Amino acid sequence: MNTTNTSIHWTDDFLLGFGPMDETHQEFVTCIAAIQNAEPKDCLVLMDQLLEHATAHFKQEDDWMMTTEFPPRTCHMDEHAAVLASITGVRALARQGATEKCLHLANDLARWFPSHADHLDSALSHWMCKIKYGAKPLVFKRSVANVTA
Ligand SMILES: [Fe+2]
Ligand SMILES: [Fe+2]
Repeated sequence: MNTTNTSIHWTDDFLLGFGPMDETHQEFVTCIAAIQNAEPKDCLVLMDQLLEHATAHFKQEDDWMMTTEFPPRTCHMDEHAAVLASITGVRALARQGATEKCLHLANDLARWFPSHADHLDSALSHWMCKIKYGAKPLVFKRSVANVTA
């Protein structure tokens, strides 16, 4: 596991254009950043919050894919399941005292999320906007260099 710190914070660069998904993604980034910046004694509570968030986040996207019969949903849902299993496993290890695993996981998730959002969530965002609004999303981003929160 790569333990290099890869700090993450929300920027408009993560916006995909489907509002409910963007709101959820902002919360996900906040959960990861909270663990990256936490004292070890606070990790268990933050891991509980991350697990609760990730369970709802991935279920929401899985439900969108299933109910709309999004064609390439299998690998996307498999990736959600694998990440959720990792979070669940690390939470269990942290409960046994290995709280340093929380930072490793948060760093891994900070590296994983941008690619997942770019390659899988963006296609689902387009699909959902097309179904809901009849068009692909238009995304207006503030200058990424000036956005830190
Ligand atoms: Fe997502
Ligand atoms: Fe996803």
